[in-house]
Amino acid sequence: MEVESANCKYRVSQCEDIELLSVERPLKIDLEINALEILVQELHKVFSNDHVNIQDVQKLMAAYKSEPKDWKKYAKFDRFRYTRNLVDAGNGAFNIMILCWGPGHASAIHDHADSHCFMKVLSGSLEEVRYQWPSNEEPEIVRKLKRKNSCCFGNLEKSIEDKLSEINISCQNETCPNFGAKIDSLDNCEQNGDEEHYEAHKMEEIGRTKLDVNDVCYINDALGLHRMENPSHVDGAVSLHLYCPPFDSCRMFDVRTGKATQIKVTFWSMYGKKVNRVIEANSVVDCQ
Ligand code: SIN
Repeated sequence: MEVESANCKYRVSQCEDIELLSVERPLKIDLEINALEILVQELHKVFSNDHVNIQDVQKLMAAYKSEPKDWKKYAKFDRFRYTRNLVDAGNGAFNIMILCWGPGHASAIHDHADSHCFMKVLSGSLEEVRYQWPSNEEPEIVRKLKRKNSCCFGNLEKSIEDKLSEINISCQNETCPNFGAKIDSLDNCEQNGDEEHYEAHKMEEIGRTKLDVNDVCYINDALGLHRMENPSHVDGAVSLHLYCPPFDSCRMFDVRTGKATQIKVTFWSMYGKKVNRVIEANSVVDCQ
């Protein structure tokens, strides 16, 4: 099967060729895009087709050379946490946003709600930390891929499982200091414990990648979970994220227990204008 057939118009679990979604290879970039506006126009063109190759989106993101004058009107920082700033809603097929990370700001470990996530660093640098799915939260697509690979990786899978079951951490029932607060990013957070029994396992880190200006990366749920961090204690960082299909909630995971919490993701600004934030009493629990 051709690698080009991985179609990111569909949710990851609906892609027929799921084994191709885990292909990450150096891309040959043979075009240059000189403005963010042009990148957005090119993305609209690509997404107007029924079939959108993951590699084509990656290539477009890589072809754009970061130019602060293009994106500074969207780059709105907050002192306390990273911000999500919508640039374009992609006719409902994708959304593209600028995330601003103050020194030390980080997201919580999260999934991508069965969507595709492309990311490019525009300024500063970021570290991506990937994690294996906690075994009791694994989505069907991960199980399917494991079954497919079990002839080659059977022994490896078993040894990882054995190792995980040895690390038995007790349930965490602490109360999040920000419980009930509505937020708009997946920042570091103590999750809210509940009374039910939960089999806790420390989450397994599977990789770390430093991303510098203009570097692009891609992740989906079949590849694992991740969190991003601005490792600098002094400098901010800015990144460009494209999600397709767009989503407004996802799950974040407690690194100590693997426990998942559904959270709503919102915007700090839209199209360059700060969003007026309304605190909803019964919104999905967001915390950071
Ligand atoms: C990330 O850590 O990938 C950013 C998550 C987000 O979209 O808020």
